[in-house]
Amino acid sequence: MTEWSLEYKDFEAGKEPLREALCTLGNGYFATRGAAPEAKADDVHYPGSYIAGCFNRLRTHMAGETIENECMVNIPNWLPFTFRIENGHWFDLDRVEILEFHQQLNIHEGILRRSVRFDDGQGRRTTLHQERLVSMDQPHLAAMKTVLRAENWTGTVDVCSALDGRVNNSGVARYRALNNRHLCPIVAQTAPGNTLLLEMETSQSHIRIAQAAVTRFSREAESVACQGETAWEDDYIAHHFSNLAIEPGKPLEMVKTVAVYTSRDRAISDAMSEARQAIEEAPGFDILAQRHSLRWKQLWGQFSLDLATHADGEDSDTKKTLRLHIMHLLQTTSPHILDLDVSIPARGLHGEAYRGHIFWDELFVFPFFNLRIPEITRSLLQYRYRRLDAARRAARAEGYEGAMFPWQSGSNGREESQTLHLNPQSGNWIPDNSSLQRHISSAVAFNVWHYFEVTGDCDFLSSYGAEMLLEIARFWSSITTYNEDRGRYEILGIMGPDEYHDGYPDSSKPGIDNNAYTNIMAVWVLLRALELRTVMPGPSFMEICDRLQLTSEDFDRWDDISRRMHIHFHECGIISQFEGYEKLHEFDWEGYRTKYGDIHRLDRILESEDDTPNRYKASKQADVLMLFYLFTTEELGELFARLGYTFDHDTVARNIDYYMARTSHGSTLSQVVHSWVLARFDRPGAWPLFCQALRSDVEDIQGGTTPEGIHTGAMAGTVDLIQRCFTGIETRENTLWLNPALPPELRSLTFRIHYRGHMLNFHLTPVSVRVSTEPSAQHPVRIGLKDDIHELEPGQIREFPL
Ligand code: BGC
Repeated sequence: MTEWSLEYKDFEAGKEPLREALCTLGNGYFATRGAAPEAKADDVHYPGSYIAGCFNRLRTHMAGETIENECMVNIPNWLPFTFRIENGHWFDLDRVEILEFHQQLNIHEGILRRSVRFDDGQGRRTTLHQERLVSMDQPHLAAMKTVLRAENWTGTVDVCSALDGRVNNSGVARYRALNNRHLCPIVAQTAPGNTLLLEMETSQSHIRIAQAAVTRFSREAESVACQGETAWEDDYIAHHFSNLAIEPGKPLEMVKTVAVYTSRDRAISDAMSEARQAIEEAPGFDILAQRHSLRWKQLWGQFSLDLATHADGEDSDTKKTLRLHIMHLLQTTSPHILDLDVSIPARGLHGEAYRGHIFWDELFVFPFFNLRIPEITRSLLQYRYRRLDAARRAARAEGYEGAMFPWQSGSNGREESQTLHLNPQSGNWIPDNSSLQRHISSAVAFNVWHYFEVTGDCDFLSSYGAEMLLEIARFWSSITTYNEDRGRYEILGIMGPDEYHDGYPDSSKPGIDNNAYTNIMAVWVLLRALELRTVMPGPSFMEICDRLQLTSEDFDRWDDISRRMHIHFHECGIISQFEGYEKLHEFDWEGYRTKYGDIHRLDRILESEDDTPNRYKASKQADVLMLFYLFTTEELGELFARLGYTFDHDTVARNIDYYMARTSHGSTLSQVVHSWVLARFDRPGAWPLFCQALRSDVEDIQGGTTPEGIHTGAMAGTVDLIQRCFTGIETRENTLWLNPALPPELRSLTFRIHYRGHMLNFHLTPVSVRVSTEPSAQHPVRIGLKDDIHELEPGQIREFPL
């Protein structure tokens, strides 16, 4: 069972914030952190719950400016449930003697369990057993069952069950100086049958959030009648149940079930009546749990993954963490989002870091879903399509054409990056230029193209995808300037993925020039936009061009840029991260490691010393190496050749070594990329880096970031390392290509993916690959290995030697 469960055998207050994030339960529609139901938000606990896409904006006066922040709203807490024995203190782990403690997140069933055997200080020993789910079957329902067993006493307990809207967004300490009360009270009342009703509305986006909860009691499978007394405030409603008898051998069972709706939901009248109806019709806990676990079982069928390594005892931890990652990805975005206008927040629905915003991290998450449930990625792309006008507006506002997507996206697609951010190390508020990361638009285009390559979904391309690609191409064409002296095109005044460099050391103007990643991605986008002419049916391509008023001059310019974009190089074939990088100082890595220990966040350390990473050859994360992550050697070779630059295999190795030595991995995305490039380019060290990336969240390797939300990019990236990198899976030319490069530490890999309507099962070892297809009525699937293409009929099994 350990390969499928995360377990804690003791209670440690210091580790609770991390455990709460890791034990979050969700279903894509909403999620709730794994906080104890008796806990209130304080220095240890943060019982947050979040609904996908539920944002609100608040203004704050700060450092002489008014800043507006849009946040994914912490909705009213549905968890509150506690008890007291014989009129004593309300249950609190700090006020009892814990005799035994066990918490378990069951990854396979999607259930969180906790049991505590305690002495209440009066010699009374009791066992509390709780289990909780956020239904993967009925996305508006969640439930918690509590069983109390008296061990050596007979008496009564009082119980309090509540819905608490007195919450704010205070989960991230460095945001606490900003206004954070997003909810206004609407309804707090009871309804027959021990039902609690609470409705709140977000202060600016006016989204109504309705919750209905019911608490039921039973003993030895017989229901126990008990009428609760109501306690309420404008934004809080509770039932107090008194004098529930309990004795050894006769445990008291209590089930709290809750329904959550918002005014943005589909097919509703008003949120509160839907919540009431859902709670009236909700089945008992066991049936809810059965249906919920069945849905999880079905999902695990689609997302199965297994491996064996050479190291004793390593396999089960590796598998468990990979499965935990898959679980959290599915809790953030599941088939329940297909009808919703949402995408994947970089930090999941698990905490408030980055305010629930959507970044380029999608680039790391898409391949994972593309090859499992591509309907999900289609839906996520539609989130971007609905914000195409906002992206056009943003481009126009900066004097560009086409569509410029925001670095951080929330409700309506406007730029949500903050303009000032707090350095917790120095206490200073400093300008935030990260929105200059224009490469985000290329990530959107990349995702459109790869979704299309995996699915062959021409309708999507004609209806949405091509328009986005063409508008992004148009943006790149318009931001690109021509340098007469060089006879080449350039992109100036932007930021690359490495967030440590947002300007030149001696310049007051933000932005750097000719970031290699940005320039090559722009060229790639222009080429794909040009390729649409041959990929799409002629009439629909012409219709889109007419609508967008694109002419042959546009295509000629795109073609020209794609041949003459400037890429800067220094020192024997090292691709300069940006122009001028070569002139920066080398950084004293050893000295700073000795002085500070953890130097992941070098930017904060240097700023607190009145210095800046802009002066050094020191990157937060993979930047140039992103190119080797996203493209194969062949693809890069073609891009470089088209641009008239030489590119050979030795250059790749030198670039990898050069930048690896100059990166602090201040973003969890970085280890994923580095592991990938080492594996694909035959360099040693891929597996240890993969293992580090795997630890990002379970061990909170950045020291305090995971409690504020998981890292969806790193979670998906690690699974994708197994799924695509070590196997060399590529989807192009209507073929699924394999080019395995198992790290020496790996003995075998077994997994299942979805491609062009087929469920394909893979088993790889260093010497062979076995592929089988499930029986279906599909056309044969094309599998490419080395230079050969093999057609597999549904139901066929083939084994290829490597
Ligand atoms: C990284 C970005 C990433 C963001 C959200 C930052 O720390 O530098 O690349 O998009 O986190 O995960």
